[in-house]
Amino acid sequence: MPQKKIAVLVGSLRKESFNRKMAKALMKLSPDALSLEIVEIGGLPLYNQDLEDDPAALPASWTEFRERIRKFDGVLFVTPEYNRSVPGVLKNAIDVGSRPYGKGVWNGKPGAVVSVSPGAIGGFGANHHLRQSLVFVNVPTMQQPEAYVGNAAGLFNERGDLVNDSTREFLTKFMQAFAAWVATHTP
Ligand SMILES: Cc1cc2nc3c(=O)[nH]c(=O)nc-3n(C[C@H](O)[C@H](O)[C@H](O)COP(=O)(O)O)c2cc1C
Repeated sequence: MPQKKIAVLVGSLRKESFNRKMAKALMKLSPDALSLEIVEIGGLPLYNQDLEDDPAALPASWTEFRERIRKFDGVLFVTPEYNRSVPGVLKNAIDVGSRPYGKGVWNGKPGAVVSVSPGAIGGFGANHHLRQSLVFVNVPTMQQPEAYVGNAAGLFNERGDLVNDSTREFLTKFMQAFAAWVATHTP
């Protein structure tokens, strides 16, 4: 079976981001059926619909991002929670990929969401606000297992490895379930 290519979008631009560490940990824990790659979203200009109709004004980075995402079989979102919702940088990437209307790059690509926070609630609000947008852009998003990862400050060592066995076990199962989800939602 050829590997399925998964774009990993991280909703934090912070250098020491727990979510970026989590994304890298998930890439290591993933079964061989998936090949994961982080797609950077921090350089995308804020979405402005005016720029869409003028080829001269269309930011090259939007076009590159859209073309790049199109080549993936699925998407894994790893995000913090900002003010009980999705960080602007991630929402912007979803908006950029969703247009022009009817030509969105997310359409039909299977997805999964992991939210990570130093707080106890594990980014539940961001996780579910993100799911709301994913319904509209037609990303069939894995329902179970859910991944709200709290108390992130104690999860990684200085090399960024997961130090907690039960978290590693849970995330290994999560990635196995995602691989099965991708297999059933791609041609
Ligand atoms: C603007 C802003 C809003 C935040 N709001 C929340 C929140 O609603 N819930 C939460 O658990 N943490 C919140 N935090 C704390 C983040 O979870 C914390 O900064 C976390 O480390 C961000 O993820 P990162 O480590 O991947 O950058 C907020 C942080 C910022 C900067």
